[in-house]
Amino acid sequence: MGHTLVICKPDAVERGLVGEIMARFERKGLTIAALEHRCIDRETAERHYAEHAGKPFYEPLLEFITRSPSVVMVLDGPDDAGDDIFAVVRALVGATNPAKAAPGTIRGDYGISPTENLVHGSDSQASAEREIALFFGTLVSANSKAER
Ligand code: RTP
Ligand code: MG
Repeated sequence: MGHTLVICKPDAVERGLVGEIMARFERKGLTIAALEHRCIDRETAERHYAEHAGKPFYEPLLEFITRSPSVVMVLDGPDDAGDDIFAVVRALVGATNPAKAAPGTIRGDYGISPTENLVHGSDSQASAEREIALFFGTLVSANSKAER
């Protein structure tokens, strides 16, 4: 099923919601392949969110995502579940604006601010690969090889 990158953003850590969020992914059947509690630096945040450079919410987004530690993780899905783990994660996370996100999703249940929306999930296979490399380098591919 492949890997995808998830970030419990600073608001999730500050509010003590990391356990709740991770439990939802684990109950769904996804497993943690890598995990780090870290303060995301400005340069990494700029690279991670490069597609949004110049948009009105870009600077507030960078200030938010760098203001205190996040929990950054790689999630893995079972091999027989298809190859769209990023889509499974995005469905659990919910719509970008928590005020409009469906109840039952993480953002729908725990958020209200359009910027402070608790969780990031990669939006495609290509994004997942790029983001995992950005945050974890070769760690995951090394782990995957060890499992084979
Ligand atoms: P993410 O990349 O964090 O998983 O979120 P997403 O795909 O659902 O949304 P995206 O369009 O990629 O936006 C990235 C993050 O920017 C902040 N944002 N604020 N104030 C606003 O109007 C606004 N719009 C977006 C959110 O933190 C969003 O997750
Ligand atoms: Mg996005």
